[in-house]
Amino acid sequence: MLNIEEFDIKLDTDFIGRNFVFIEQLESTNSFLMENEFYQENGTVVISEYQSQGRGRRGREWNSMPGQNLTFSMLLVRPYRPPEINVLNLGASLAIAQSIENLYQLKVNLKWPNDVLIDNKKVAGILLDSASQGDRVSKVVVGMGINVNQSGFEGEFLFQPTSIRREFGQEVSRERLLSEILNNYEYIVKGSRYNAHKILQDWKSRCKLLGEKIQIVSEKETKYGIFDDIDEEGYLVLKSGEDYERISYGDVSLR
Ligand code: BTN
Repeated sequence: MLNIEEFDIKLDTDFIGRNFVFIEQLESTNSFLMENEFYQENGTVVISEYQSQGRGRRGREWNSMPGQNLTFSMLLVRPYRPPEINVLNLGASLAIAQSIENLYQLKVNLKWPNDVLIDNKKVAGILLDSASQGDRVSKVVVGMGINVNQSGFEGEFLFQPTSIRREFGQEVSRERLLSEILNNYEYIVKGSRYNAHKILQDWKSRCKLLGEKIQIVSEKETKYGIFDDIDEEGYLVLKSGEDYERISYGDVSLR
């Protein structure tokens, strides 16, 4: 059971996590915040020990052992411009990476757009849902699934999973990790408009595939090229021959 006091004592935010909702079991923390009109406060965090329909990117499932890991979502309400959403998205994986590095001194890499890897295995993933009004995004839900203390993983995976405990060699405090992530993410959210360059630089410094030949798979097609850059608006720049294309969606892997 999550110890809320232990979490709260290290929380150093202005708004993220100040409205904190613990629900033992629900379908998906992302769906809950997207669909529930009752929770409107900027920075609301909903955390659950068990999601019966945890969602991953591109329609996949996210399964997590109850009581072992962290599965939660944050609500951000402000009129965001589309490029800022990319920064919030990439920045979410950056906040997790920074937190794991700070607390456990592990080397963390990032895979576009937002997979968090340790030793080339996936330790966390992010799912971002949003609702728009006109050309502005009015509401963003950032969901994080982090494998914290789970010791084994069964099933077939697109990317080999791991947990912090497996990589660090001992059980870690979920409460301390959660507060560290929220602290780091709030700093990123506050800078998403005027400090995007620095956030993207920090993200790129942890990305191993930059400059490599990659493929990007989406529902519609597979694209091939060189991972040239992340541009100032957070899009992946794919170079094919003399052409450069900005990509906003898909699964990246080495070709
Ligand atoms: C991915 O890597 O595919 C993204 C996984 C995101 C999982 C989290 S767990 C909390 C939140 N609620 C969900 O249903 N999904 C996200």
